[in-house]
Amino acid sequence: MCGIVGILGGGDVAIPIFEALKRLEYRGYDSAGIATIDNGEIVRRRAAGKLNALHEKLGAAPLAGRAGIGHTRWATHGAPIEENAHPHATDHVSIVHNGIIENFRELRDELAAKGRNFQSATDSEVIAQLITVFVEEEGAAPIEAFRKMLGRVRGAFAIAAVFAGNDDLILAARKGSPLAIGRGDGEMFVGSDAFALAPFTNRVTYLDEGDHAAITRAGFEVFDGSGATVKRRETVSSASDAMVDKDGHRHFMAKEIHEQPEVVGHTLARFVDPTDASLLAFGANFDFKKLDRLTISACGTAYYAGLIAKYWFEKWARLPVEIDIASELRYRDIPYAEKGGAIFVSQSGETADTLAALREAKAHGQRIGAVVNVAESSIAREADDIFQINAGPEIGVASTKAFTCQLVTLACLAIKAGADRGLLSKDEQSGLVAALMEIPRLIAEALQQEAAIEKISAELSKARDILYIGRGVSFPMALEGALKLKEISYIHAEGYAAGELKHGPIALIDEHVPVVVVAPSDRHYEKTISNMHEIIARGGRPLLISDKRGIKAAGDVWAAIEAPDTHPLLSPLVYAVPVQLLAYFAATAKGTDVDQPRNLAKSVTVE
Ligand code: F6R
Repeated sequence: MCGIVGILGGGDVAIPIFEALKRLEYRGYDSAGIATIDNGEIVRRRAAGKLNALHEKLGAAPLAGRAGIGHTRWATHGAPIEENAHPHATDHVSIVHNGIIENFRELRDELAAKGRNFQSATDSEVIAQLITVFVEEEGAAPIEAFRKMLGRVRGAFAIAAVFAGNDDLILAARKGSPLAIGRGDGEMFVGSDAFALAPFTNRVTYLDEGDHAAITRAGFEVFDGSGATVKRRETVSSASDAMVDKDGHRHFMAKEIHEQPEVVGHTLARFVDPTDASLLAFGANFDFKKLDRLTISACGTAYYAGLIAKYWFEKWARLPVEIDIASELRYRDIPYAEKGGAIFVSQSGETADTLAALREAKAHGQRIGAVVNVAESSIAREADDIFQINAGPEIGVASTKAFTCQLVTLACLAIKAGADRGLLSKDEQSGLVAALMEIPRLIAEALQQEAAIEKISAELSKARDILYIGRGVSFPMALEGALKLKEISYIHAEGYAAGELKHGPIALIDEHVPVVVVAPSDRHYEKTISNMHEIIARGGRPLLISDKRGIKAAGDVWAAIEAPDTHPLLSPLVYAVPVQLLAYFAATAKGTDVDQPRNLAKSVTVE
């Protein structure tokens, strides 16, 4: 996912644009650039690599101009080199783009046949070239040329454009990728999210799907897909300037891991009444009583949160759950239940595959619930019920606090399902809610093992391959542990159901392959420990994560991490912490870029 900023300012805008890009760098960080209108002409600075490379360029050759656009890129078409960095430009227009232009090949061929000279290998450049053709060949005004361009491109995008000879105009469009307009005093802003605009203004208007807008310093006009003028509501954004701070931590990921006791508590406060350990009223449209089946879908870490929730819905609400990763679910020919419900889990609320799967389920008449962090996101907007987690902005690319907040939200939903369906008595409900209310404290307790985990991680970081195993709710935890480790430390890791080990993966075990065994003292404990002994018998090195009792009963292991005692089904909420810390410290031991690991982006708005 790329980040977009545009400013019509009172003075030179390159530095404010750069500052806003810093807040968006988590979205994409393989190259960046800024274009301004200086004395009527388009001028640009672009650089491959992180934003500091662009900073150096701007230092050596500053950009003047009161109107401009900027971009941080996550490459889809074309390598992350300077020529492919945005903004793209012709003599007439400069554009920044987030998303994918699906028909760019045919457009590129058509434009090349007209003699247009492409300077990059990107899909995005066709936007600038198309606008230019309409301006040059048809004498179209900027807004007309922009609209004609929108009529030709297919795909998902957010676009912002500035025009030569006009330093009081930004044109913007949204289809599939979010875009917000910010109103300042005599200044106007456009950005991928309110977070980017927070240093400038909190008066934010989100474009709707299919909208485009003409922005000047005096104000802006929004047009819907048919070209009709429409009003979109201005909101006061709560995104604050301070949120980008690491708060004394070395990395955002460390800060976000440590925030978990607090943010999980905030999320819980949305769904439970602590005075009598009962559920508050929420999800009025999502009546679990009427559901025959529940579908859950998501990607990556959010998918693992859903996978854990499957155990809860089935146990507490006897509700059959169909769960799949969104990129698969959307293409399956699923016989959806007639009175079915579907829950989509997404931190960003913008993940393209999850959004597409949501639309597919909606088209099949499913009631849609969204567990999202970003309330204004596309997934939230298209859901019947929004179950907003309260994690605050997650900047580290590896999801940590969003995961535990997703879990606590899904746990509340599963308890509500059990209550709605008459399967959990009042006492059982309050027993579970009370156990959930313990979680922030238990997470804080788990964090106290940090120093011990750092030591073990230093050893772990020397391995080339690592396996994670678990049973029951600890199986998705094993999957999540392996994902976390590989994405930030680049160590190859696989998660397995412990019982599945002997059906193949055990062949990988030798003294060089550590195996992280996630085994709280629950009803699966003994079986998982037997699997661990099969590993020991083959010279493997088990690292056991369990509670005091579990560690004591397990006998000799290569290493152990102690976790607090928890409700057996809620253990992932606590075991997430050691698993996250292991990955974090293995990555810092290896010296990788923890917050911005290679090849990744914070949210994936392309399929
Ligand atoms: C892993 C990670 C990803 C995301 C996935 C879904 O640490 O962050 O696997 O969980 O890309 O993103 P959202 O939740 O924004 O839909």
